Amino acid sequence: MVDITEMLNIKYPILQGGMAQIARYELVSAVSNAGGLGILASGGLSAQELRKQIIECKKRTDKPFGVNLMLMMPNIPELVDVVIEEGVKIVTTGAGTPKPYMEKLKSAGIKVIAVIPSVKIAKKMEALGVDALVAEGTEAGGHVGETTTMALVPQVVRAVSIPVIAAGGIADGHGVAAAYALGAQGVQLGTLFLVAEECPVPDSFKQAVIHADDTATIVTGRKSGAPVRSIKNPMTIKYQELEYSNASRDELEEITLGSLKKAVYNGDVENGSVMAGQISGIINEVRPVKELITTLFNEADQVLGEMSKVNFKH
Ligand SMILES: Cc1cc2nc3c(=O)[nH]c(=O)nc-3n(C[C@H](O)[C@H](O)[C@H](O)COP(=O)(O)O)c2cc1C
Repeated sequence: MVDITEMLNIKYPILQGGMAQIARYELVSAVSNAGGLGILASGGLSAQELRKQIIECKKRTDKPFGVNLMLMMPNIPELVDVVIEEGVKIVTTGAGTPKPYMEKLKSAGIKVIAVIPSVKIAKKMEALGVDALVAEGTEAGGHVGETTTMALVPQVVRAVSIPVIAAGGIADGHGVAAAYALGAQGVQLGTLFLVAEECPVPDSFKQAVIHADDTATIVTGRKSGAPVRSIKNPMTIKYQELEYSNASRDELEEITLGSLKKAVYNGDVENGSVMAGQISGIINEVRPVKELITTLFNEADQVLGEMSKVNFKH
């Protein structure tokens, strides 16, 4: 099986997950320069805005970077055109099927990596001809499925014959080593990169992640079929109360409308949506991307070294 570091031409087997409104050129170029794969988030951007992000990213790095396409967005056909015109060579997809765009993307020489929450969808994506999968467990920040990383990754690895990258709940070398033990060929992280020095969110957002413990997150939107994990705050608590008292769609929308932007641009971590994952509890300081990545893999090497001494034969 092809190695993902070779497939993507990166030094470390790590993808920085697309994060709507957050994974902009500042963070993405820093990750790519540090030897990982930075991925620009296109969710909520116009075609013009995405083009600007790609151009700014190219100014800051000559290393590969990708674009994340949230397929439920109405302007996906235009975003796909921008990706192709700007010569981006890697795309990750979520929230829908890339089927209508596969031929176009593949004939432009683009590697397509689908983010998936289940074995069923993994198999569908493999049949469509995607190059690799990100198996994302429910521990992750943002939109989530139901299965944990621990249970999902080995089942997906057994079900497909393309590379599988593990995501959800990884933020240190132990997590990276665990992903490899489960059969993954690489990792995708979101939450840890929220506290990178280069991540363009206000300090209040970073501090909310740093102060979060293992039970600080909540999943809202399960009833509406679009579950999202974020840090509990007055907004999410109110949303959940309304959700379970059968509030109307309009009432729910009133709370969530623009809530991500409130947190990302205004730093309002009380009324905004502070999407982050369950692993926030081990994240305790703001550090430069390069340091985050090198620490992660030095630690993973150390953990794997220690593990090689384990002998179950007694
Ligand atoms: C703030 C935030 C926003 C996210 N937005 C997106 C998105 O727009 N598209 C996407 O495919 N995944 C999105 N994700 C998921 C990440 O790309 C990544 O898979 C996930 O964060 C990995 O799990 P972790 O948070 O435990 O590291 C988001 C995650 C976070 C924390």
